[in-house]
Amino acid sequence: MKFHILTFGCQMNVHDSQWLTSALESRGWEQAPEDEAQVYILNTCSVREKPEQKVYTELGRIAVHLKRDPDIIAAVGGCVGQQVGTGFFNRFPFVKLVFGTDGIANAPDALERLVEGAQERIALLDFVDIYPEREVPCRDVRVEQKSRQAFVNIMQGCDNFCTYCVVPFTRGRQKSRHPEQVLEECRTLVKGGVREITLLGQNVNSFGLDKGGVGVTFAQLLYRVAEIPGLDRLRFTTSHPKDIAPEVIRAFGELDNLCPSLHLPMQAGSDDVLRRMGRKYDSKRYVEIVDGLRAARPNLALTTDLIVAFPGETEEDFEQTMEMVEKVGFESSFSFKYSDRPGVAALKMKPKIAPDVAAERLMRLQNLQNDITRKCLKKLVGTEDDVLVEGKSRKQDEGGFWWRGRDAAGRVVNFRFEGDRDLEGLMVPVRIVEAKKHSLVGKRTGDPW
Ligand code: 5AD
Ligand code: SF4
Repeated sequence: MKFHILTFGCQMNVHDSQWLTSALESRGWEQAPEDEAQVYILNTCSVREKPEQKVYTELGRIAVHLKRDPDIIAAVGGCVGQQVGTGFFNRFPFVKLVFGTDGIANAPDALERLVEGAQERIALLDFVDIYPEREVPCRDVRVEQKSRQAFVNIMQGCDNFCTYCVVPFTRGRQKSRHPEQVLEECRTLVKGGVREITLLGQNVNSFGLDKGGVGVTFAQLLYRVAEIPGLDRLRFTTSHPKDIAPEVIRAFGELDNLCPSLHLPMQAGSDDVLRRMGRKYDSKRYVEIVDGLRAARPNLALTTDLIVAFPGETEEDFEQTMEMVEKVGFESSFSFKYSDRPGVAALKMKPKIAPDVAAERLMRLQNLQNDITRKCLKKLVGTEDDVLVEGKSRKQDEGGFWWRGRDAAGRVVNFRFEGDRDLEGLMVPVRIVEAKKHSLVGKRTGDPW
């Protein structure tokens, strides 16, 4: 069976799609280009308005392939799958499976039943209390991937109910995975050649603080994963500032293979907006956390998420976000205009901000961020680091190949290497010689390892 997966949204979705791909491949299915597939899988995101509309557009596009093969079927998973659910069956009759993030564990079997004609339609939308362990695919593509980087889920769902966020509704309550399962998966990956692991969850810092918890905290898990021999780089995402424990901050000073980068969504700089967002920290607390992190690891690269034009955001509130962005000096940020999501508390908050005001604020914020990003990258010229190579650069010229990889903090670094040796998955020591707008240029200083 030939299948094609389209993925939208966060890293958790990217990872879910990777797992689904390997689970289907271990059943003898084959990935295919879009115009050859018999089964289409859409792994969707509904965190903001636009990505949801994208799903409808994509399904409209896929429907065109029915002319080529009337037996084509589609599955919609992820957050929009969970939210719209069986609504897809009426609107797009070739959609035969809908699944949410708890249901994904059973999606490969469901797809098999559908193509065998054993069932007409399947909905996997129930939420569960305990993390649904997934089968380990016989051919784990993540281990095979030459890039030698892997994601490992440690939890699913979120209990925070920030007032703008749809995630607690689409991914359900927080459920932590058993720490031994996490450790076993990490050990297997490292044995298989993986050098870099990213621990994933909606709110990793509250790992273990739910029904699935067994008394192991996130900090304890972090220390145990970090000690796996052969693991060169460890990252984790995403962190809620209110839950980051002093032990996790200390870990940045103590664990050599814990990478010097942290994504710490701030969302807003105004205490009033933060309170109405239900974030449970204020700007002072956020700065204290940042100071603690930088004391533990001075070269830590901080990145963040920001929302502009939250209901009721005044010009003054917005200015406070700008001030905080400047004060903290985020190396980069993702920034979004607030968008109403179904069922969230902010839906009823007023006044909504006019779209032109929201667009103007977003532009000002992004201009400021670009300036700060440029300054941060410039400061790195002359420093040395290892780059984990991901592949060849897009641009090539004469005299060896240009390769693209990431430094320990996750920044993209391009560098030239004489000869035609395949470097993918190797670490190459470089010195940074130039800063581009969003990436760095390095010069090799030692041998690949
Ligand atoms: N509107 C705009 N941005 C949102 N995000 C989450 N919900 C919304 C919303 N309703 C942003 C937050 C979050 C990121 C993943 O998406 O900044 O951290
Ligand atoms: Fe959404 Fe807040 Fe949970 Fe993040 S912590 S997923 S923003 S509810």
